[in-house]
Formats: sequence, structure tokens, C-alpha cells
Amino acid sequence: MIPVNKPRIYPEMYTLTKQALDSGWLSAEGPLVKKFETAFSHYITTKFGAATNSGTTALHLAMTALGIGKNDEVIIPALTIASCYFAVWYTGATAIPVDIDPETYTLNPNLLERAITKKTKAIMPVHLYGHPCCMDEIMHIAKKHHLFVIEDAAEAHGAEYKGKKVGSFGDVSIFSFYANKLVTCGEGGMVLTNNKKIYERISHLKSLYHSKRQRFVHDGIGYNYQMTNMQAALGLASLAHIEESIQKKRIMASIYNNHLRDIPGIILPIEKSWAKNVYWMYAIRVNKKEYGISRNKLMEKLFKQGIQTRSFFFSPKTAFKKLRLFQHKKNPVAETVETEGFYVPSGLGNSAQDFLKTIKIIKNIYATTHEA
Ligand SMILES: Cc1ncc(COP(=O)(O)O)c(C=O)c1O
Repeated sequence: MIPVNKPRIYPEMYTLTKQALDSGWLSAEGPLVKKFETAFSHYITTKFGAATNSGTTALHLAMTALGIGKNDEVIIPALTIASCYFAVWYTGATAIPVDIDPETYTLNPNLLERAITKKTKAIMPVHLYGHPCCMDEIMHIAKKHHLFVIEDAAEAHGAEYKGKKVGSFGDVSIFSFYANKLVTCGEGGMVLTNNKKIYERISHLKSLYHSKRQRFVHDGIGYNYQMTNMQAALGLASLAHIEESIQKKRIMASIYNNHLRDIPGIILPIEKSWAKNVYWMYAIRVNKKEYGISRNKLMEKLFKQGIQTRSFFFSPKTAFKKLRLFQHKKNPVAETVETEGFYVPSGLGNSAQDFLKTIKIIKNIYATTHEA
């Protein structure tokens, strides 16, 4: 089976984890955590970085540090991972989904203002599948309505909007370092900001909110959301290869683009003229009428021939059906895209052979459905 994501293991992962082990520092107190925070925030061009144990906890910390809570509303895109909703809900606030742009699959800025109410506190743009959001429009609206911007750049390490790295626009931004990300710690995350007060509050909150004067005396309700020295070792090792990783992803995307471009009904990922897409995963859509079979059928057929794939995220109506939430909410673009989109093998450790085999099967299936 060709996995949808195969991570890359670098020699530095061995040397740095050995260094961490030899130093005796396994916990979050170890020196590599600070080193990783400095190196990654420097890479994204923000002043401060607070490492966490996941992107989900990074989102929760970002929201808590901004003072978001009960009676507040946070606008999020209608096609994203549940972590965005969960982080809002952890604080007691309400998540307000807004439909996506049909080309970039990110928050549609034209629909933003009508979703803003007196309760709105923040907008959370999500740079989905490696493509940046329309940041000028989003920042303009946020400024006009005095709203915080929490950028979710979990899938977009190194992606750029008009030449500036995503994750450097908002009041805070978050990244994930899960095993399938361009920079990975296995599991992990980071909150970035240029605001020293927010950074200090996050650093404090993520480590049980110990009082600065007296450990084990607490200034509030804290969390243990820290990254360990061992995770930071992996993060530093993969960060050292970030430019090469972006290059690899872009080559992967050009192989898929070149071969899939002419297949009717296969809708390719785009790169807007103002964007640098890092193609975290190679995300395509299937137009059933033109291609001949549905997304689900295509995924099934690929699986039977040894290719693992993943469907897109779902709109809130589908994702939270069991919770009976958002059942009357209409997000027509997200609701269409969720039935058509999926991504194919595109990890940093996947080979050109993996891509070519996937392409060949997608082509063959189209040919057989259109025989005679
Ligand atoms: C857009 C987005 N936000 C947040 C997260 C949460 O990150 P994590 O899995 O590290 O908790 C992810 C996960 O990959 C994600 O894709």
C-alpha cells in the first residue's frame, strides 16, 4: 500500500535526539525547546514562539491568551479540521462558520462582514492544504471591526502571501508539527506572536500557570500543553531541511499537475498569483459528471489498487451531525467541496514512483469509464 503520507527521517533527528538523551533533559525544561522556539519564530519572521504539544492546544492557548471566552464569537472557515471548532468551544465561545472560496478552499473574505456581530471577537483564517488565505482583505476587515486575527497555519509552513510568510500576519498564529507536516516533531505545535505580553501569557498558561514568584502557587487555571525536549530535537532537525522540503512539495505538485491536467473532471489545486503554495498535501476534486465516477468511488478504486487517500475535511453540518450542531446552517461551497475533494499520496517521504503510479491509476479509471 502506498501511504497518503510517508514522513522523511533526517540524520539530524538521530543526532539531536541522542543529544537530548545524553543531556538528561527529556522534559519541556530542556534547552532544545527554547532553541526550536527561537529558530522557528525567526523562520516565520515573528518575534516570539511558544512551543506546545500540538496544534490543537496551540489554538486553545492562542484563544485563551487573547481573553476569548463565554459570550464571544469567533469566525472560522466552513471547511477545516475540528480542532478549530474545539479550541473555540474549550474557551466557552461560539464558533461561527463562514463559507469558503471555491478556488483556494479558504475563508471567503466577501462573506465575512455579514457574519460579524456585536459578539464577534476574532477571525480565524486557515491556510488550507498549504495555500494562503486572502490576508489583505481579512486584515482590513479585522482592523475595521477591531477584531483579533488568529492565523491557523498548521498546514502551511513556509507558504507566502505577497512574499510574506503566513503566520506573520495575525495577532497570533499557530502551527502544527504533526508527523505529516513540513516541519515535524511527531506531535507538536507552536503559537507565534510579535506581542511580548501575549507570548508571556501563553508561556505561563501552557505550564500550569505557576506564579513567577513561587512555583506550585498558581496565578490562574493553567494547562500542561508543553513540548518536550525530545520533540524539539525532531523539530529542529526537520526545520533544518525546510527549504528542501518546500522544493520537494512543489516538484511533487508539478508532477501531479502535468499529468492530471488533461483528465476531464479532475480539478487541480491552484496557486493564486499572489501566493506561494507549499502543497502540504496534493488536494484534488472530482467532478462526477465529467470524470465518470464520484470522489468516493475513485477513492475506493484507488484503495483496491494499493493507493491510500484521504477525503477533504467536512463542512460543520456533516462533521458535527452527531452533536446536532449546525444542521440548519448553509455553506454551499463547503458542502459541495466536501463531497468532491480528496488528497493523494504526497508526503515528503513519498517517491516520484508513488505519484506516477497514482496518476496512472486515475488515468486508467477515466479511460475505462469512458470506453465504447
Ligand atoms: C488546519 C489545522 N489546524 C489545526 C490542526 C491541529 O493540529 P494538531 O494535529 O497538531 O493538533 C491541524 C492538524 O493537522 C490542521 O490541519
